[in-house]
Amino acid sequence: MINVSNLKKSFDTINALKGISFNIPQGECYGLLGPNGAGKTTTISIMSTILEADEGEVNIAGYDLKKNPLECKKNIGVVTQEIALYNELSAYDNLLFWGSLYNVPKPELTVRINETLTLLGLTDRKNEKVKTYSGGMKRRVNFASALLHRPDVLFMDEPTVGIDPQSRNLIFEVVEKLHKEGITIVYTTHYMEEAERLCDRIGIIDNGEIIAQGTLDELRTSGSMKETVVISFTNLTEKRYTTITKDWNDLQRFGDTIHFYSMNIQGDLSKIILTCNTAGLDINHIDIRKINLETIFLSLTGKQLRDK
Ligand SMILES: Nc1ncnc2c1ncn2[C@@H]1O[C@H](COP(=O)(O)OP(=O)(O)OP(=O)(O)O)[C@@H](O)[C@H]1O
Ligand SMILES: [Mg+2]
Repeated sequence: MINVSNLKKSFDTINALKGISFNIPQGECYGLLGPNGAGKTTTISIMSTILEADEGEVNIAGYDLKKNPLECKKNIGVVTQEIALYNELSAYDNLLFWGSLYNVPKPELTVRINETLTLLGLTDRKNEKVKTYSGGMKRRVNFASALLHRPDVLFMDEPTVGIDPQSRNLIFEVVEKLHKEGITIVYTTHYMEEAERLCDRIGIIDNGEIIAQGTLDELRTSGSMKETVVISFTNLTEKRYTTITKDWNDLQRFGDTIHFYSMNIQGDLSKIILTCNTAGLDINHIDIRKINLETIFLSLTGKQLRDK
């Protein structure tokens, strides 16, 4: 459905994209996960014809973006990172404006606007000026404006940044609903929880490059990363530690604490605890450190996905 091949883009001296490629089959929700400045918006802007690439190709629903930009655009809905709304107009009138750009006939447009306002929980306030809305409500109107022409493909660029939990949840629910209905989605975020929850496959992007790509499970198992069970004890002695090492050799001791490393904590946890019991150790505290997108990003780049 979407083929992106070797996209490159520079702004003066900044190499924003250094050869981005990915293929997204119809109906997939693909996440582009990366920190500030990684190149997410630049990629989305090129795919939605807002920017032109220096090199590379984009094909959407069988149309080459350079040769047939209009055909491509008909199929795409874009939820931009920067909210593009008229503050002095109501949500309803904003949507009327956006819908008319797509040549949806007026009676049909009226029906769709009302449906979309309901979908995004905006019906009660639909006639009030957007300037009186909360950030989360504005984001929901921004989202609604991308759906009016019923696109087959949806690009969403960090649609939940800086909003209240209720708006965020509602946006998630609508993304999940659209996904179930078979829309193809590209969703950018720097929140790993969002990528984990919403996306079938994830491309991890950093410094203008996709540095890893796959399903969450594929990403978890592709590196040589291990999960860790961190156990602290009340009576850890050198002798007991030696006993443990006979049963479990992938481990490290830090004072009263042992880090047990495993590729499969689910399967190994009971064995580790049994080993500790057999060695006569009293467990004080157990902490399980699983592999998630945050730790994968850290292991690939040596830095945090986002500032804490
Ligand atoms: N119009 C522009 N002029 C100059 N530099 C730009 C422009 N747009 C983007 N850049 C630079 O290109 C790089 C990629 O930016 P981009 O906006 O694509 O990142 P992003 O992943 O969307 O980040 P964020 O999470 O902050 O939105 C950054 O270094 C940014 O400063
Ligand atoms: Mg961005």
